[in-house]
Amino acid sequence: MVAMTDAFDPRFGEAWTEAQCGGILGMPGSHLLVARDGDRPTGFAMLRTIADETELLLIAVRAGDQRRGIGRALLARVIDLARSQGARALHLEVRDGNGAAWLYREAGFVQVGRRRQYYRGRDGESFDALTFRLRLG
Ligand SMILES: CC(C)(COP(=O)(O)OP(=O)(O)OC[C@H]1O[C@@H](n2cnc3c(N)ncnc32)[C@H](O)[C@@H]1OP(=O)(O)O)[C@@H](O)C(=O)NCCC(=O)NCCS
Repeated sequence: MVAMTDAFDPRFGEAWTEAQCGGILGMPGSHLLVARDGDRPTGFAMLRTIADETELLLIAVRAGDQRRGIGRALLARVIDLARSQGARALHLEVRDGNGAAWLYREAGFVQVGRRRQYYRGRDGESFDALTFRLRLG
């Protein structure tokens, strides 16, 4: 989980703990996709499908490997996997102000909501989450 610890800025409270990841990955319908450069993991995505809906729980690329197309490639794999599992929609949430929103919009996601003060940052400051949806049907 090196990508988890170095991709997310601790100021914003977006990263998950190992226990949180282990818990979700043990649940039915959960998947972890890992991007590699040779043997070296460069990023990952975690998703969960329930019935005909998939949620992209987290996507991250190691700090030194960002802006090389890895996140875009991971997201394309996430979309393919969700479709292959029969999902009709892919949902996600992202902190308002996170540059990742560009990546999601580029892939066809549309913003469908806002969750006020959803993320609690390191210094007690809170940040809204934007919710996005991509129709797959
Ligand atoms: C979001 C993240 C996964 C994107 O991965 P990446 O490998 O850097 O993304 P890509 O190189 O595939 O970028 C594809 C496009 O998305 C957009 N994009 C990606 N990151 C961006 C940023 N920080 N600001 C603005 N646009 C961004 C750009 O349009 C980019 O294309 P370009 O480089 O040709 O301009 C990565 O920045 C990351 O790990 N961030 C920290 C963790 C995080 O916030 N994850 C999302 C919430 S769970």
